[in-house]
Formats: sequence, C-alpha cells, structure tokens
Amino acid sequence: MHTASRGHRTRRRVLPVAVLALVAALAVSAGATARRSGAPRAHTAAVTISSRPFGTTTGGKPVRVYTLSNGHMRVRITNFGGVIQSIDVPDRRGRMADVTLGFPKLGGYEANDVYPQPSGGSGSTYFGATVGRYANRIANGAFTLNGTTYHLPKNNGPNTLHGGPNSWNSEVWAPTVSRTASGVSLALTLTSPDGQNGFPGTVVAAVTFTLGRANALTIHYHATTDKPTVINMTNHSYFNLAGEASGSILNQRLMIPANRYTPTDNTQIPTGKIVPVAGTPLDFRHFKAIGRDITSPFPQLVLAHGYDHNFVLNGSGTGMKLAARAIDPVSGRTLAAFTTEPGVQLYTSNFLQGELVGTSGKTYRQSAGFTLETQHYPDSPNEPSFPSTTLNPGTPFNSTTVFEFGVTR
Ligand code: GAL
Repeated sequence: MHTASRGHRTRRRVLPVAVLALVAALAVSAGATARRSGAPRAHTAAVTISSRPFGTTTGGKPVRVYTLSNGHMRVRITNFGGVIQSIDVPDRRGRMADVTLGFPKLGGYEANDVYPQPSGGSGSTYFGATVGRYANRIANGAFTLNGTTYHLPKNNGPNTLHGGPNSWNSEVWAPTVSRTASGVSLALTLTSPDGQNGFPGTVVAAVTFTLGRANALTIHYHATTDKPTVINMTNHSYFNLAGEASGSILNQRLMIPANRYTPTDNTQIPTGKIVPVAGTPLDFRHFKAIGRDITSPFPQLVLAHGYDHNFVLNGSGTGMKLAARAIDPVSGRTLAAFTTEPGVQLYTSNFLQGELVGTSGKTYRQSAGFTLETQHYPDSPNEPSFPSTTLNPGTPFNSTTVFEFGVTR
C-alpha cells in the first residue's frame, strides 16, 4: 500500500474518540455560529423523535419514517435507504420550508432506483439517500485489492456508481431510536453480504442521525468487515435553501474551502491528478453564486453538464473541518457542512429532466438543488495516490458529517 494511504489508515484507527470530542466541540460552536449569523438562540424546547408507517416495499417489507424535531428544525428520515426525506428549517422571519428534494411516498424512491434505468429520464437520483458500499464512481466496474480483481455491475455507463444497482440506498435498514438529555438519535444498521454487487466481505454498516437543541443534524457512519474490502459512505441530500421545488439554486451562494479538485475524464472518472481550482470556475474559495460561472465552456463543466466534481478539502485528513457554506440571499437561510472526510462532491442536479414529481407535488428540473456529498475521492480503489478507502477486519470505518442550519440578515 502507498505510504500516504497507510498513514491515513492509521489516523482512522484513533477516530472514534476524536470524533466524539469533535462532535461535542462542534455542537457548541454550531450554536455559537447560528447566533452570530442571526439564528434563534439554542432553545429549551423538547427534542423529540416519533415514527409512523411509510408503506411496504414491493418486496413486502414494512418501512417507517422517523421525525426528529427540536421545535425549530424538523427532519424526516426513513429506514428505506437511510433516506432523509425532508429537512424543515426557518428563514430569517421564522417561516419554515423543506430545504431538501425528495419524494412524497415510498413508491417514488423505489421506482427511481430500477435497474437497468429507462433511457431519457433523470436516472437514479439518490434523493437524500445513505449511499454505500462505495459512494461515487469506480472505473470500469472493477478494482484490485490484495492481488484479487473484483468485478462489479456497471450502472453508470462503463462505471459502477454509488455501490451499483439496488444498493444500500434502496434497502430496508434496521432502526433503533434513542433519547438523551441533549438530543435524539435514529441509528440504522444493515448487513451487506459478502459478494453483494461484487464487493468482497460481509460489511455491517450503521448510520446514526442525531438532532440536538441546535439546528444541526449530525450523521455518523460506522462499518466493519470480515474480509478486506473498500468503503465510502455519504449522504446524498439535495439542498435548496429557498425551499424544495421553489426553482433554481443558481442564485444561492456557496463557499467551499478547497484549493484543489480531482478533474475527471468524460465518463466522470478522476484522471488521478489533483489540480488547483485557482483561475477556474471550480474556485469556490470565496462565496459566489452557484450559477455565476456554471455556463462557462470550461471543459470540466461541459462534460458534467454543470458542477459534478470532488473538491479536495483544505486540511484534508480525518479531523472535523468545514466542507462548505451556503446562503440563500432571499430567505436568509444558511447551511454549513462539516466533515471528517477528505473530499466533498458538489453536484448541481445536472441530470434532472423535469419528469420526477417531488415531495410537494411539483417537478424537479436541472439546478433544482445541490448536493454536498462528503466522501473519499471517486475511484480511490484504483488510485493508489488518493487517501485509502480500504476497510480491513478489526479496523472499523468511522466518519462524521454535520449539516448545520442558520439564518443571515
Ligand atoms: C451524483 C453523481 C452524479 C449523478 C447523481 C445521481 O453523486 O456525481 O453524476 O449520478 O449522483 O443522479
């Protein structure tokens, strides 16, 4: 294994303690940030979690949707695919809106993940989903680990995307609800069998969503394996801070603290180079409207039909760091993403065609939302110079991302 990868792996081993400390620190700083930006003070309303049926899968499994609420922010998550179905947060006048794209019913999520995909539509959108075993693309549906080459089904042109067809985003996860004095959590677990979609090793994965009194959703991922394998988990929420189905996000402002990104070939597989954003439309180091440069004929934007790129976060490593900030100047809603992951994929809904009917009964078109998929870099199993995504028995995977909401005047 490459030296850099080995160093990375060693840092992962100490992560659980570090993560707990960082999450605690972040909860404090999240409240402080929200107050600085004009959001309501952390308040004393009860933090609650409740659930109700969300239908039955075509395979006959009952599914529930869980509502986490602190009186100022309400998150709905289903154990189908670990999907965040909605996030309701206030604007600067206290008016609530759902700031994520989704489907109103279970059937919408199931119908959107059929394989093979019918041509001409928006494709699998992964609205709000927990994505695994390997988020983002693996080139040519193959990778070699410890001398063995593994072949995966190709569900994105010549490549494997988001764990392959019918992956973790459309499985029924086992839920556990917990309540503490400071917040509520929904833990979802899944056992992915050895050989699922071609990946080696039985993986036991868990994703835990926590809401406390501050308007911040913490997502913690944990996974173990019984054989060496690869892992890259993320959440695939599409944000629109003006509200789901309110139109384009192109006037919303974004900042990503990344000096570099991983350019791709025309099948969206990284070339292996890590290059500066300076002087390109991918420079989000200072706030700019997402749409300011999106129509530039810059080849990377042309081939992806907009932004669909992995940014190498400054200060990469496994410590918690800022991944992005976004502001909707009209409603005043703000979003800050923090992560222990080394990268974030910004995707501006380039492939939404307008035929999918979303949560509130309206269709979604191109630029209806943006994702901030905190992750390891795409195709890392085939790029030894990228931080390692190898998961070995005895060394659990731990990863944390926080989405913190506020308002600005
Ligand atoms: C993103 C990916 C896009 C598109 C989308 C789902 O994560 O980067 O290219 O496939 O998922 O439609």
